[in-house]
Amino acid sequence: MRTAVGAVVMVMVCLMMAHADVKPQRDFNLQRFAGKWYRVGLAYASPSFAPYRDKVKASMGMVAALPNGNVNLTMWDATPFGCRTKMYHYERTNVPGQFTYFSSRHNMVKDITVVDTNYTDYALVLKHKVFSRDYTQVALYGRSHSVRNHVIQKFTAFSLSQGFPRESILTPPPADNCPPSPSGR
Ligand SMILES: *[C@@H]1O[C@H](CO)[C@@H](O)[C@H](O)[C@H]1NC(C)=O
Ligand SMILES: *[C@@H]1O[C@H](CO)[C@@H](O)[C@H](O)[C@H]1NC(C)=O
Repeated sequence: MRTAVGAVVMVMVCLMMAHADVKPQRDFNLQRFAGKWYRVGLAYASPSFAPYRDKVKASMGMVAALPNGNVNLTMWDATPFGCRTKMYHYERTNVPGQFTYFSSRHNMVKDITVVDTNYTDYALVLKHKVFSRDYTQVALYGRSHSVRNHVIQKFTAFSLSQGFPRESILTPPPADNCPPSPSGR
């Protein structure tokens, strides 16, 4: 019994260390990160989200780099009620690639870490480092709707390492007409 408890504690300590260990992209460059992205991968283990897993579409996001180092992010989400636009304001921290924002939905401050990006093709972003089924997400962004297979594998491996069950790791198809055409996609 005692060793079992010890083992559980060890596993928990290791998991916590794994999360604390996530570092942002080295030499993160916000100017190069700005612009249009498609969220081609999403890991999200919230039970309330599970029924929507097969309905998710790849949202489009536009990252605007503000002069003070903060970010305005506009997302276009295809929902059952149509294409919805949402604005997010990310505040810089003194670690490049690391931001905070206030989630009005959950009434809490979350951190955003750009874990890995090469700016021209993909970006792996962790929202809320301390794992919580209800708050933590991993997003894979692509400059286009299709990213290379090894990038998908990197996203999947990272999400598994953060404690996401395999069935919560999604690569949704493109959204139709969101944002609305003429040249939406
Ligand atoms: C950023 O967002 C804020 C709040 O929505 C807005 O007032 C501001 O004009 C935006 N700035 C840019 C450059 O988009
Ligand atoms: C970015 O990543 C993609 C996919 O791995 C790769 O094909 C491309 O060459 C990379 N670009 C740069 C500038 O490293």
